[in-house]
Amino acid sequence: MKKKIAVINGDGIGPEVTKQSIKVLDAIAAQFNHEFTYEHCLMGADAIDKTGNPLPDETVEICLNSDAILFGAIGHPKYDNDPTAKVRPEQGLLKLRKSLQLYANIRPITTYTALQHLSPLKAKQLEDVDFVIFRELTGGIYFGKKELSEDGNTASDNCLYTKPEIERVTHLAFQYAQNRKKKLTLVDKANVLETSRLWRKVVQEIAAQYSDVTVDYMFVDNAAMQIILNPKQFDVVLTENMFGDIISDEASVLSGSLGLAPSASIGTGAALFEPIHGSYPQAAGKDIANPLGSILSAAMLLDNFGLAKEANLVREAVNWTLANGFVTKDIDPINFYFTSTIGDLISEYVSGKIPDGVN
Ligand code: IPM
Ligand code: MN
Repeated sequence: MKKKIAVINGDGIGPEVTKQSIKVLDAIAAQFNHEFTYEHCLMGADAIDKTGNPLPDETVEICLNSDAILFGAIGHPKYDNDPTAKVRPEQGLLKLRKSLQLYANIRPITTYTALQHLSPLKAKQLEDVDFVIFRELTGGIYFGKKELSEDGNTASDNCLYTKPEIERVTHLAFQYAQNRKKKLTLVDKANVLETSRLWRKVVQEIAAQYSDVTVDYMFVDNAAMQIILNPKQFDVVLTENMFGDIISDEASVLSGSLGLAPSASIGTGAALFEPIHGSYPQAAGKDIANPLGSILSAAMLLDNFGLAKEANLVREAVNWTLANGFVTKDIDPINFYFTSTIGDLISEYVSGKIPDGVN
């Protein structure tokens, strides 16, 4: 199979974790006779430094002409601490999501036996935890009208959703649930927000077309608590943009480290794959960041190409590293391996160079 992948390293640890994913994809390509070519492009603080624009037109062009996009991370403290900055790295990612109509963000939450001790939850609560968050990605308060009064003392962000925006992601989430445990939970704040009541109405209507899927509804404050109290009750969680952003970071700690969580953003054209962690500037350039969030995102990219066997081999390799103590500093601050070493080990594993079970 021949595929063209746009690569956006982005900021902070983005370049070093993405490099490991490319290593792994190259190893997969060699092993299974595929041809993956990569085209690098700019976004985020890196793009602002080089071009003045967080999302140069050329980047959108390259992404539109690719089969998939692999993205690292975005953000820089110099913008975080300057609320008056007019140009911000994150605008690049938001504009890219909108330009490519990446309306559904899929964030799987998995737990690993070898990492249970790192989770804030007890081992018993982590057993059988396996759910997926479907976060609407191109609407809601992120994209509503933003206003700041002239005197700078009043600000507003408008949260807006249309029925078609809710419908398209809802159908995807139901279809996903049909291939899993057949349960869908809509997370909203329908006791307060008009947009949430529209979500509930649309989801109730669509539910009739998926009679094999059980649907329940949960307010987001309760959902935040349930994710910690009883995470195994969830299968597919469907929610709007900002609630999805918040609960997916919360849910990712169940696995033991935010550094492990992958995501796929899909829409009408090429899909984008990125770890859910941020740019972690304190670790940038030190070869200590966890590349697994990115590598597992690359596995989701392979799935998206229809290469399930290849994707599963990457996941098997990741499990193998974790089970054998080949972990980065976020997981074991004393006996840790470097980012690049983990990338090498996973590449070797998928190339068949490390026999199963050998430490
Ligand atoms: C994420 C990130 C982004 C978001 C930021 C960087 C704009 O937190 O992908 O979860 O809020 O969507
Ligand atoms: Mn986030």
